[in-house]
Amino acid sequence: MKLLIVGCGSIGRRHAKNARKLGLDVVLCDVNEERLLDLAAETGAIGCYADYKIAAKQSGADAAVIATPSHLHVAPASSMLEAGMHIMMEKPLCSSVAEANELKRMVVDAKRVFMMAHTFRFRNEWREVKRLLDERPIGRMFSAELIGGWYLPDWHYREDYRREYAAQWKQGGGVMLTSMSHFFDVVAWLFGDIKEVVGAKMRLGLLEIDVDDAVTCVVKTSSGVAVTLYEDFLARCPRRSIRVNGEHGYLEADFNRGLWKIWDVRTKRCLPEHTSAQANLFKVLEDGVAYNLEPDVFPLQCSGNDAYLSELKHFVSLLNGNALETDLGIDAGIEVLKAIGSDGIVDWANTRMN
Ligand SMILES: NC(=O)c1ccc[n+]([C@@H]2O[C@H](COP(=O)([O-])OP(=O)(O)OC[C@H]3O[C@@H](n4cnc5c(N)ncnc54)[C@H](O)[C@@H]3O)[C@@H](O)[C@H]2O)c1
Repeated sequence: MKLLIVGCGSIGRRHAKNARKLGLDVVLCDVNEERLLDLAAETGAIGCYADYKIAAKQSGADAAVIATPSHLHVAPASSMLEAGMHIMMEKPLCSSVAEANELKRMVVDAKRVFMMAHTFRFRNEWREVKRLLDERPIGRMFSAELIGGWYLPDWHYREDYRREYAAQWKQGGGVMLTSMSHFFDVVAWLFGDIKEVVGAKMRLGLLEIDVDDAVTCVVKTSSGVAVTLYEDFLARCPRRSIRVNGEHGYLEADFNRGLWKIWDVRTKRCLPEHTSAQANLFKVLEDGVAYNLEPDVFPLQCSGNDAYLSELKHFVSLLNGNALETDLGIDAGIEVLKAIGSDGIVDWANTRMN
């Protein structure tokens, strides 16, 4: 099988190397010649193109991975579909639902496999959280909090962050499109369809960027769980966590520390007459119920490249089965875009907050 990688930057390079690990032939396309030739030498690519339209016509590839900056996903995907290729599309699908619907029409007509690269669904840690939640260890779930943050200049620290697509409005950057898109997909996966979103895109920090550097949202889901999301480009100490609050307590995962925790009221709550033997209990009132606030903590195995490898393997298995309907199809990308473009999200990012 011949796989064309369009965009050989950070993620395209990873996909190209993983494709070789899976024994696929690789063809590369990038406007940056040096990047193209370096990756071709590293992966033994059997073809190189600087222009995606020419690659579509001449490469003879069976499928393409679209890994160009976020504002430039639809045009190359359309060319590849016209050339009869299947598509694995990097997230976010694009920047507007209207553009996404156009592409959906092409996908349906072309009868080709289309898979969103929603990588979190292939990460061990998120799969483990889903498995745990599906067992309902804290009873009925009421609410969840997903929090993420990393400092944009530390991302590719050898490069000027101001030139990253993530830093630029015209390239589809900003926290909402770059990072929150993962969270919205995870919310739908863990808690059911997204029914409503309210929130704000903000610019709080001192980075020299023209996009939102922080986003906060509250999401109403079809399961009735209310989810609060926060993510930014400003956190000097990187963080990514989820906490789910339910009938019997909470379940929490700290992905950067590789831990998950559970706190269950059925083992952590003491009535006043039984508290004397236990030290360090928290009391709501002097003579009231006491709580051991410490959760039970367990290690969480977190993914690295294995998640991207599983994602690509999954794409190849869809191609082999010619699976046109999948839960990671174009609708998964459109659901995320609808959440991102929700009328309930106000845009305070045009001006700094201070
Ligand atoms: N699924 C994930 O976990 C994940 C992780 C990182 C990035 N992404 C997504 O992947 C996309 C790319 O991100 P990145 O970090 O690799 O960006 P990047 O800037 O490192 O790479 C983009 C590449 O596309 C090339 N390019 C630009 N215009 C082109 C054109 N017309 N034809 C061919 N190549 C062109 C650039 O030269 C560059 O090499 C973004 O949409 C991003 O959101 C997804």
